[in-house]
Order: sequence, then C-alpha cells, then structure tokens
Amino acid sequence: MRVLALESSCDETSAAVVSGTATAPRLESLVILSQDVHRIFGGVVPEIASREHLTAIVPVVRQALSEAGIQLKAGGSRLKANGEPHGIDAIAVTHAPGLVGALLVGVSYAKALAAALEIPVIGVHHMEGHLFATALEHPAAVPPFTALLVSGGHTLLIDVEAWGQYRLLGATRDDAAGEAFDKVAKLLGLPYPGGRHVEALAREGDPTRFRFTRPMLNGGQRLGDPDYYDVSFSGLKTAVLLAVRGSDDLDRDRPHIARGFHDAIVDTLVAKTVRAAKAHGRTRIVLGGGVACNTTLATAMREAAAVVGGTVFAPTPRLATDNAAMIGAAALFHVERGVRHDASLNAHATRPIPGLIDATAPRR
Ligand code: KG4
Ligand code: ZN
Repeated sequence: MRVLALESSCDETSAAVVSGTATAPRLESLVILSQDVHRIFGGVVPEIASREHLTAIVPVVRQALSEAGIQLKAGGSRLKANGEPHGIDAIAVTHAPGLVGALLVGVSYAKALAAALEIPVIGVHHMEGHLFATALEHPAAVPPFTALLVSGGHTLLIDVEAWGQYRLLGATRDDAAGEAFDKVAKLLGLPYPGGRHVEALAREGDPTRFRFTRPMLNGGQRLGDPDYYDVSFSGLKTAVLLAVRGSDDLDRDRPHIARGFHDAIVDTLVAKTVRAAKAHGRTRIVLGGGVACNTTLATAMREAAAVVGGTVFAPTPRLATDNAAMIGAAALFHVERGVRHDASLNAHATRPIPGLIDATAPRR
C-alpha cells in the first residue's frame, strides 16, 4: 500500500509519500513548505494562508512524488502487466480541524486528483495524525501509550489504548501551550513564532528570580477531579505580563522571566502527563505537536518518566510540527480497515478526534 498524503490545515503546505503498513510505515518522501509571511503579522492570517496553499500545493506535491520516484498516471491504482502495483493506491488529506479555507485547498485538490487517478481519498483528523508521527521515526512508539499533543492550536492529553481507540483525558481550558509560548514571546519582545526563542532565552535565566504558580497543579487534586488532567495557561500569561510591567530593567529581567514561565509550563505538562501514564499503567509516553520540539520539555519528561519506569518518545522537529507524513501514516491504518471517502468529503474547522472512547471505560 502506498499513500500520497497532503496537509494544509494551518500555515504549512506539505505532501508525503508513505508506504507499508500501519504497524510498519515507511516514509518515502516528505516536503514541507512553511509560510513565512505570517511572521510580519505576528500570527497566522487565514486568508493569506489559503492563498499561499493554493500556489504551493502543486509544486509541493510534484516534489514529494519526484523524491519518491513516482510518476502519476490516470488509473494509477491498477496493476502493471507484470502484477506490480505502480503509482499510488490512495490519497490522504487532513480534513479537520484547522482553518477551513486552508483545509479546503488540500481537500479539493485531493478529491480532484483521486478522481483523475481513479483511487480512493481518505480524510484524516489532524490530531490523530500527530499521534502517528513519532512511530515513523521510533518503531516502539506504538500503543498502548500516553500522548501529550502540544501545538499552537491544541493541548491534549490522550490515553492511546490502541490505534483508533483514544481516551481524551485532559485539555487546555484556554490557551494552547504553543499559543502561551507565542504570547509570552510577544510580551518579551521576541519574534513570532516564539516558542524556540523563549526556550533559548530561558536557558540563560535564573530559576529563583521569578517563580510563577504552576497552573492548575496542586497536591490536593485527586483522580476524578475535573482539573486532575486539564491545564490552563491564561493565568500564567497574565503573571508574565505583570512581571514585565513591574520590571524596572527588562533587559536584565527578560531571561529570568522567560525561565520562570518556562519552568512553570514544563513542570505542569510533565506532572499531568506522568499522572496519566501512572493512572493507566502505561510505560510509553509519546510527545507530538510543535511544542514537542522543546528539548527542555522532552528532557524533563524523560527524567520524570524514568522514575516510574517509563520511556519518552519525541519526534524530530520536522515530524513534530505540521507535516503530511503523519497524515499518511494515520491513513494507512484507516485504509487497512476499509475506510474510503468519496467526493462528499468536506473540511471542518472543528471536529472531535475519531475513535474517542469513554474516558471512564475500563482500560485494556
Ligand atoms: O504543531 P505546530 O507546528 O503548528 C500548530 O500550531 O498546529 O506548532 C507550532 C507551535 C508554535 O506555537 C511554536 O511557538 C511552538 O509550536 N514551538 C515551540 C518550540 N518550537 C515550536 N514551543 C516551545 N519550544 C519550542 N522549542
Ligand atoms: Zn498540528
């Protein structure tokens, strides 16, 4: 099975060719074009994102196909005379969640190409894609595991019992983790997107100078409490704002404030993730999303997980941030189970991750 996958939910236009099986996926090519233009505006401008996808999608797909040594032909799913498959067997595309105009570019393109090639199209949920990303690099990053997905738009703590069976344990009540990084970067006068700049600056900071309260984290929380797994970053952001306003020498204090923020967010994400792994008896923790590029977070997670005998898997930056390879890997799983979509496939700004099971159901 070989899948051409497309991703256009936000500000990355990406195409990948993924083959093999869901348990042993093989990445044949991956092209990611990040839209730099949004830096000027300090955030993603949806209308611009859609237009950029429109100009990028054809060359990005061509490049991904050429790197995988594939030439498209109408009816590409059919077998060659000698019985060997040629071309691609299905087209996978992110169809939710994301910016609807941006998603529509990928979905429309995928449907048209699938129709021309007479092969199926498979719509994939973007966050399910992030769950599959790490397994492309680490064959042991497979269920059951605890997943922490942290990006600019999402913060989700999920117990992955098996592929396709997800218990949503916790989420952010307000800002996503990456959004908090980006907003704090702005308060500190750092460029957008700010996550990696805040991480770098925090390394120079003194952890004792600014100690912010750990958001929604306290020893009194018990399993079953609504805030046991959830997180919230807006109060922490306000604490940073007050520290910035209260500083009489921001040049001196900037790294220390960054460090105080960074320590609070990392402590919170690590504590909640390890809680989830312990409660569900998982020995594997898988990180995903742009904030998983944060090596301080991955290191702290590894140290905390080691205490309870757990192993942490973090993808490299190109698979942590938005990419089509993860969409292809998730699609292989669905294709193997007979999932096929048709021309009625649509784009959705929000939609729950498929395969959600009751968080209170007995675990396997
Ligand atoms: O997954 P992603 O590429 O896009 C979506 O939001 O879906 O994630 C982008 C986010 C941004 O908020 C960016 O600041 C954050 O990931 N990020 C980081 C780091 N690198 C990227 N946050 C913290 N530390 C980093 N090193
Ligand atoms: Zn994402």
